[in-house]
Amino acid sequence: ILAPVIALDGPSASGKGTVAARVAAALEFHYLDSGALYRLTALAAVRRGVLFDDVEGLTEVARALDASFVEGVILLDGEEATEAIRSEAIGEGASRVAALAPVRDALLARQRAFQRLPGLVADGRDMGSVVFPQAQLKVFLTATAEVRAERRHKQLIAKGEDVTIQKILEDIQQRDARDSARTVAPLVQLPDARLLDTSAMTIDQAVRTVLGWWETVQ
Ligand code: C5P
Repeated sequence: ILAPVIALDGPSASGKGTVAARVAAALEFHYLDSGALYRLTALAAVRRGVLFDDVEGLTEVARALDASFVEGVILLDGEEATEAIRSEAIGEGASRVAALAPVRDALLARQRAFQRLPGLVADGRDMGSVVFPQAQLKVFLTATAEVRAERRHKQLIAKGEDVTIQKILEDIQQRDARDSARTVAPLVQLPDARLLDTSAMTIDQAVRTVLGWWETVQ
């Protein structure tokens, strides 16, 4: 039997990664951070000197990606890359490689391999639309661009990065536009997805809402 899937899609810096990881922990489900695969592809491309306009080169990087996820630690080519993939530059690169259909295809089977018993919480942009269209629960998790910019700003300041909220807001709006307007696997709220706007919610409240919904679809 196929393991059940909770698909959590939404824009960048919406907090869906944190919510997804907590929901997975609460249910003792597996967790797929699909954005990390696009970020790892971007990082591996930079390290190999493959340019972001080289579609064939990027597709090969994605196909040959040597990535592993071990209890919250992310490895690229056997070395820890957990922090390295979180920079703004790599996020930007990820958004560019993610717009390429052959790159997405190359990462598809890898993502589906995470669907194992007792279940999976998958977070990304196209979990409910492309990767796991049969998911038992689909959630579109979002927050206003301003709230997301504030949250991201706090995180980056805590890490010692010197950025203004204004710059982050611009980046977020640009990335939203690119993720939503692209022709392949655009970020959309599906008709069968439940909307979770976390603008005025704590992480705990968001986690409890998703867990409550999960109970109702059981
Ligand atoms: O979610 P995260 O910010 O880590 O994702 C990085 C980039 O990867 C996003 O800007 C988005 O373009 C892309 N992505 C995607 N499909 C997914 C997950 C992420 O296109 N399922």
